[in-house]
Amino acid sequence: MKKTLIALCALALGGMSLSACGSSEEGADDGSITMGFAQVGAESGWRTANTTSIQESAKEAGIDLKFSDAQQKQENQIKSIRSYIQQKVDVIAFSPVVETGWDAVLKEAKRANIPVVLTDRAVDTEDPSLYVTFIGSDFVEEGEKAGQWLVDNAEASDVDKDGTVNVVELQGTTGSAPALDRKKGFEDVISSDSKIKVTASQTGDFTRDGGKQVMEAFLQSTPKIDVVYAHNDDMGLGAIEAIKAAGKKPGTDIKIITVDAVKDGMTALAAGEINFIVECSPLLGDQLMDVAEKVVAGDEVPERIVTEETTFTPEQAAEALPDRKY
Ligand code: AHR
Repeated sequence: MKKTLIALCALALGGMSLSACGSSEEGADDGSITMGFAQVGAESGWRTANTTSIQESAKEAGIDLKFSDAQQKQENQIKSIRSYIQQKVDVIAFSPVVETGWDAVLKEAKRANIPVVLTDRAVDTEDPSLYVTFIGSDFVEEGEKAGQWLVDNAEASDVDKDGTVNVVELQGTTGSAPALDRKKGFEDVISSDSKIKVTASQTGDFTRDGGKQVMEAFLQSTPKIDVVYAHNDDMGLGAIEAIKAAGKKPGTDIKIITVDAVKDGMTALAAGEINFIVECSPLLGDQLMDVAEKVVAGDEVPERIVTEETTFTPEQAAEALPDRKY
């Protein structure tokens, strides 16, 4: 039976990481906790740090982690969650690649009495009983912080001094919570200054390659660009490559604002190639394991756990870099 289940599981998951299928057909009965975690993918430095944090924290907490990488595809995440339900894990956690389309699989988990914890990204559902809690950043606030920096530095950001600050936006994955919320927060704040205009906005899917390609297209199609607002460091770093290839100086000829504050982004910030970074912490592992233990024990947990975060200027990045963990 066990072998049949593993074979079925491997078939069902197709090209996905086989670590999604654990070796046991049901949760352990020795008192230890089994968690099924459906990760988005490995699209960015942030995501890699987030995966490491979850794997290390599970090990430290003695939680048996079944981990899958959905390669940024919702259907893969749904398959993983279904396989975790079949394996009767004690708790399911996942970071939803997009906001909508989760109700059916979450109802299946609920029917199986398996609690679900959301980490990093939220789902859009009218039934909040489908998950226990959501641990992660306030993405709207991150967008607001990015917008506030631009409002505060509007004059210096009007690079060609023509009285308007033309912004191009590199959006994250279409339909994902961070892309929707970072866009909204930014737009809400910059609307207070009529000089600032978003002249082009397109998805770079949170990847370095995506950011580079979209920025190359923007540089061709949009003659005057003062500022790049990238929804994550990786897309900002891709944009830097495109800007350099076009013979311009990133951070000077075109100002750059990003979100995340991973080491590569912070290094570019300290070097003056990025101008401002809003932090988004990927270190969610310890909080997740703590919550999982409480939920499995039947203890109450808050419905929402917001990650504490800051922002960085080039000077602050230089100071923080030696101790940066991710
Ligand atoms: O959901 C968090 C976002 O996803 C990070 O900002 C980005 O780098 C990642 O891919």
